[in-house]
Amino acid sequence: MAKITYVEYGGKEHVVEVATGLTVMEGARDNGIPGIEADCGGACACSTCHVYVDEAWVEKLPPRDPMEEDMLDFAYEPDPVRSRLTCQLRVNEALDGLKVFMPEKQI
Ligand code: FES
Repeated sequence: MAKITYVEYGGKEHVVEVATGLTVMEGARDNGIPGIEADCGGACACSTCHVYVDEAWVEKLPPRDPMEEDMLDFAYEPDPVRSRLTCQLRVNEALDGLKVFMPEKQI
């Protein structure tokens, strides 16, 4: 389990416990949190699960693999440092306290 804070564009926060083994995207989807669409279902093929990771977490997460890097080019206003695809972030205890911010829109 990890407690993850999802912040909607506009500032509304959702704090939920996400089970180990799920992805950060699945944590949002399973809890009905708006702002992460995940059109491809987690296959790293759409970029609609894009978020900006809280700055304090950027270095703590595993680095992007090349496929995630490529798909982020299609996201809405990606940030070179803070953008991640949440379907590529696997939840474990080390992610307890993670905070992510939704972009203005998903494309
Ligand atoms: Fe499609 Fe993450 S859900 S890239």
